[in-house]
Order: sequence, then C-alpha cells, then structure tokens
Amino acid sequence: MSLEKLLLIPGPSPVHPRIVHSLSQPTLSHVSPVLAEDFKTALDNLKKTVFTRRGEPFLFAGGGTLSMETAAVNTIGPSDRVLVVSQGYFGERMAQVCRSFGLDCDLLESEWGSAVPPEALEDRLSGGRFSVVAATHIDTATGVCAPIRDYARILEGRGTLFLLDGVCATGGVEERMDDWGIDVVLTAPQKCFGAPPGLALCVFSERAMDKRKSLQSVPAYYADILRWLPVMKDPTKYFSTHCVNEVRAFAESTRIVMEEGLEARFARHVRTARAIRKGLAGLGFSFFTREDCLADTLSVVLYPAGLEDAAFRAAYFEQGVVVAGGLAQTAGRVFRMGHMGNVSAAQVLFALDALERTLKLLRFPFEEGAGVQAAETALAE
Ligand SMILES: Cc1ncc(COP(=O)(O)O)c(C=O)c1O
Repeated sequence: MSLEKLLLIPGPSPVHPRIVHSLSQPTLSHVSPVLAEDFKTALDNLKKTVFTRRGEPFLFAGGGTLSMETAAVNTIGPSDRVLVVSQGYFGERMAQVCRSFGLDCDLLESEWGSAVPPEALEDRLSGGRFSVVAATHIDTATGVCAPIRDYARILEGRGTLFLLDGVCATGGVEERMDDWGIDVVLTAPQKCFGAPPGLALCVFSERAMDKRKSLQSVPAYYADILRWLPVMKDPTKYFSTHCVNEVRAFAESTRIVMEEGLEARFARHVRTARAIRKGLAGLGFSFFTREDCLADTLSVVLYPAGLEDAAFRAAYFEQGVVVAGGLAQTAGRVFRMGHMGNVSAAQVLFALDALERTLKLLRFPFEEGAGVQAAETALAE
C-alpha cells in the first residue's frame, strides 16, 4: 500500500503512516548493515531524547517490564538498599521486580491520584541510607506526573543512583539525564514514541555503568547489560537475535521525534492534553488525578453515575476510539485515554466527536457540541 493511500485512511489511527510503512518492509537479516545503520540511528536518537551525551543506550527485544528488570538488576547489588518512590501501579510493580530478585527494597507511596511530595522523599532519605532511588515519571494507571526534577535535586550530592521509569513519558515529556542527574532512564517504544511494542529501552549514565561493572555478577543472563554492550557498539555482532522490524520501526519513530524537535513535541503534548481535558470537562467528565499532578500524556477519567465501564468502552470502540479501563483499585471506576506520541489536533477532535456520538447512543445526557467546541478553543489559544 502506498503512503498516500495510508494517509487517506479515515479515523484516528494512532500509528504514524511512516511507522506503518516501516513495519510493512521485508524483514532484513539481523546482521544486515542496513539494520545496523537503523540500530545506530535509534540509539543516537534515544540518547538525544533524554538529553545525554555520555549515557550508554541499550535496546533489545522485550518490553517496559524488562526495562524495569534491566535497570534494577544491573544497578542494585545484594548489599544495596533501594527506595521505590511510587505514584501507583507501576511503582508497585518496580518494588515487586526488586523483591523478586531478593533485593532489599522500601516503598514510599503516594495516595493513588497524587504524587509523592519532594519533602516526603527528603524525610525518608534523612531516616535511612539508600544506594538507589527508583521513581515512576508518569504512572499510566493513575495519570500522575511526578516532580522528577525536584526528586533529582534532593538526590544531588548524596551518591545515590536515580532510576527513572519513563515508559509513559520519554519522548513526550522532558527528561534531562545529564543536567538533572538521572542515572538510568528505562522506557519503551509504544507510548510517547508512537512505535509498536516489543523492545526494552534503557540509557545508563557513566555512574550506572560503573556500578554494573563493580557488581561481580547479576541475577540475569539476557538482561545483563555487559553482554549487550559490544552489540550496542556494533549491532552486527551477536548476543541474541534482534527483532528486526520493531527496531526499524522504532528507528523511524525516533526520526519523527527529531524532525518535530523535542521542545516542539513537549509543547504539543501540553496543548493536546489541555484540549482533551477541556473537551472532556465540557461534556461533564471529571478526572481521577489531582489537578496539580495531571500528566500531559494520558488522562484518567472518572465515570459519572449512569455510565458503565464495559458498555461505554464497547460503544466508544464502535465509534472508532479505543480507551483502556482502570487498573487494580480503579477498575470499573475510570477509563484511561492516551494522548501521547504523534497524536494530532484532528485526532483530538475526532475522539471528542466520537465520544459525543457514544454518549448519544447510550442516552447519556450532555451538552451537544460542547466537547469539540471547548477543545477547539483550547487548541486555538
Ligand atoms: C509507567 C509504566 N512502566 C512500566 C510499564 C510496563 O511496560 P510493558 O507493558 O511494556 O511491560 C508500563 C506499561 O504500561 C508503564 O506504563
């Protein structure tokens, strides 16, 4: 199918046509020089996305959870203590990852819907010594964006490694590794890069690399970054076979990020989030997440009385929009709408228009046109 035809497909396909085009290419050999070029582009652009010059990037088949494991097992040794700063579901997962490797892990949690205040981190650090602190940037279950820069300032000069879960943030929200002192950004391609899932992505600082080298062994084989390091320097070398098409699609997604420009991309995420939320509020919806920590990449929306989760999502899907249900304690109480990656203003308006059609079909009362109008006004501001 030609690119022109793909561009004409109606509806809010969240996948950029250039990424679809890349996925449709024949699978190359995993040692092909063409793949190696794409691989290097992906690694270089991943480093640029998290603003690091000296960081060491890693990319291999897996997913965000494997990125979490990779960050943990390569930086936390048997004599270390780690503090996980959790804003919800994925912070709890990081603690589970650490504990499943027998690592000594404490949890500092916020109430779901709000972020852990920086003062709470400061307090906890003054009460005990931790060699590693791990935090989630944006928790995809709660829609909370944590004050990462403040956490990083608190950690400055303490000799503590700082691991950041950027799965729902990297490439959509600012993460400055070198300037802020982040030691590992762990992330994935399927959210703010707008690429297909299937890869674990991590960037390690020099300090984090030194820490790995100081550990005699790690409780992993595939996720041991020292086995991958030679392959990252020369992607035609073998450790484990690359998932070729995902790597090439990810490389293309990073080119799109670079062409848009990081500052412009972050600003677009701010604008899109504001427009979506104005539109949803115009239709009478409110949000699970506290106002001062709303994320720019997704919204967690409370169901008003009279809207039932499964029926609503099924009807919305029929109108062309997929939203996720709530996780764990929010199941049935909220739906989650992603507005990250390459989402355009037209897609925002399409989603709100489709929402109005859904509410009408479900005979749920709302002010007709109010959603799209509020979003249009916000987009024009
Ligand atoms: C913040 C966060 N961390 C980690 C993960 C785990 O990623 P994956 O589902 O690719 O394993 C997710 C997935 O949604 C996430 O949102």
